Amino acid sequence: MAQPELELRFQRRFLAARQLRSFPWAELERNLRASPGSSLLADILHQTILHPLCVKYPPSTKYRRCFLAELIKKHESTAAEPLDELYDTLADILNEEESTHCYKNYLLPTGESVTLSESVAIISGGTTGLVTWDAALHLAEWAIENSAVFSNRTVLELGSGIGFTGIAICKTCSPKTYIFSDYHHCVLKQLTENLRLNGFVLEPGTTQHIQTESQGQEAEATNHQTPKLVVAELDWGSVTEKQLLDLQPDVIVAADVVYDPEITSALVGVLQKLSTLSADRKPPEVYIAFTIRNPDTYHLFQVELDKVGIGWQIIPAHSNSIFPYDMQPNVTILQLFV
Ligand SMILES: C[S@@+](CC[C@H](N)C(=O)[O-])C[C@H]1O[C@@H](n2cnc3c(N)ncnc32)[C@H](O)[C@@H]1O
Repeated sequence: MAQPELELRFQRRFLAARQLRSFPWAELERNLRASPGSSLLADILHQTILHPLCVKYPPSTKYRRCFLAELIKKHESTAAEPLDELYDTLADILNEEESTHCYKNYLLPTGESVTLSESVAIISGGTTGLVTWDAALHLAEWAIENSAVFSNRTVLELGSGIGFTGIAICKTCSPKTYIFSDYHHCVLKQLTENLRLNGFVLEPGTTQHIQTESQGQEAEATNHQTPKLVVAELDWGSVTEKQLLDLQPDVIVAADVVYDPEITSALVGVLQKLSTLSADRKPPEVYIAFTIRNPDTYHLFQVELDKVGIGWQIIPAHSNSIFPYDMQPNVTILQLFV
């Protein structure tokens, strides 16, 4: 593999803080042995830990420390000249306090990036919503390849989590309005913070787009911003047909929201309500991406859809691979006909 390509693979994985074992370490070692005097390691250091995006929005302290330890190991095992910059950078990291939050940065084909502040733990505050799941990356890749679906339309995202898919769509697909929604307070707070991190301006509660039981977390972007952004507190268990109608969505998306039978039936309930909206207007297009961890859960979703008369089809896999995964995820996108 050519060096720039190898550096790019390290950079994309590192900025998104993917698992260290998914990095191309063996190729790095081969390259270092083949040309011991090259600047490859210094270049990788500058494309990762010392990259301006990482300096501003770094992955966790522990992650950077472990990554650097691995780089140093590769450096020492290829017996090159000492590289002071590696040890100086490690010394700086060792002086930092451990973090409970970290940043992940994803590079978009447009040259822009999506930056997210995430929890270090996979499940924290009793929710799965404070980290980004593979289905969210997969759905965003598909959206980027099919941007016409979103262009100049009102998009409602269910179970947005901390916002990766929506932010990527807003930065690449020109929707008219994007409504992020979730029901968990900590998730909504983190989502709002992430929208700000990505340059979107939100003003609290300027318009009530959705009247839910508690209206604490609503916010809408200032009017001159395109797309117009709304953050809505929306619980599938209690949202009404009228509330959904008020949102007037043309397109509905969701990622990794089918993972528990109880949650699945609440979600199907929302989809059923959406189907009753379609009588006097064009029905919304619905795309749901999910990771098939347990085939029974996947089948249960399909059975429940069949029961309420919602048609579905599997969307063929897309060809682009924009975001780095730890391993090839078992993700499918279903288009639903409500
Ligand atoms: C596994 S996370 C997926 C988050 C994000 N879409 C992603 O893929 O990274 C599931 C999300 O669904 C939300 N959720 C679960 N039950 C919900 C409900 N009844 N109403 C609204 N959101 C719900 C959770 O708060 C969480 O953010």
